[in-house]
Amino acid sequence: MTQAHSHESELDLLKRQLPIWLASSKELCLEGKVASYIPELSKAPQEALGIHIIDQAGHSVTAGDSGLTFTMQSISKVFTLLLALMDNGEDVVFDKVGMEPTGDNFNSMLKLELVQPGIPFNPLINAGAIAISSLIAGGTSEEKSERTLQFFRKLARNDSLSYDMAVYRSEAESADLNRSMAYFLKDNGVLKGNVNEVLDIYFRHCSISVTCADLARMALVLAYNGTDPLTGVNLIPRRYVQIAKTFMVTCGMYNASGEFAIEVGLPAKSGVAGGILTMVPGRYGIGVIGPSLNPKGNSIAGVHVLETLSREMDWSLF
Ligand code: DON
Repeated sequence: MTQAHSHESELDLLKRQLPIWLASSKELCLEGKVASYIPELSKAPQEALGIHIIDQAGHSVTAGDSGLTFTMQSISKVFTLLLALMDNGEDVVFDKVGMEPTGDNFNSMLKLELVQPGIPFNPLINAGAIAISSLIAGGTSEEKSERTLQFFRKLARNDSLSYDMAVYRSEAESADLNRSMAYFLKDNGVLKGNVNEVLDIYFRHCSISVTCADLARMALVLAYNGTDPLTGVNLIPRRYVQIAKTFMVTCGMYNASGEFAIEVGLPAKSGVAGGILTMVPGRYGIGVIGPSLNPKGNSIAGVHVLETLSREMDWSLF
């Protein structure tokens, strides 16, 4: 924060500045593209941009189209990783997925065969997240999905969080690449159980519908190392949050994670519906939506507004 701002609280400053910063990022929406490989996602408004920031006392600042609902898509992978870690422990999870960035696209299967052992490089690429879906505890795939949804609801403090069934069906009908990866993982012994059931768990958690406020509340729990600061209740062991946040820094924005670490410097995870979940550790949870994507699959205006915020508020961890 600059000297000129020092007598004003940070939230007041954000309230005043966010709409201005958002307006200048919004222009970029027209330069990106809304995802269409899942046909239902193409209906999202290209020009939308919204943000919600919440602090440990529950005070929030919101701007733009923050009321828009959208599906979590890959953002959900952070939380299924956390659930799989809580269900199985680190040894079991990291027997099935690695800890390294790929430098490839999120849906690439290139390195699955290229590098031994043939496990997905990390839990945030599609192949890794599908392997993680197979590790969620429960007697049936319905029970596994239900446990996942309940976990997300608890973190978001929102009992009405649910699936966007149109997006779920649209993905299930168009997921040939993910299906081929899942069969490959099964053949490699990485994925246990029924491939279609595991994919159903994956498609469901990707299609959980949220607003920026839901993402911000989920991020707030991570920003406070697994304890919900609004209740003081520990929801996730600190060590697992540390693992998840590290993956967010190294792989959360796919093959743009290095650039994002330099320009923004915060743990973050994006999804192809245009959401970004990020946080200022020990301070804020942040949710962003901007369905128009850059060529790497991240929200074009969402990344831009986070760059502005980080620079103006001096939020980079590095
Ligand atoms: O599996 C898929 O392709 C989607 N359900 C999720 C991909 C995604 O969000 C990647 N994001 N940038």
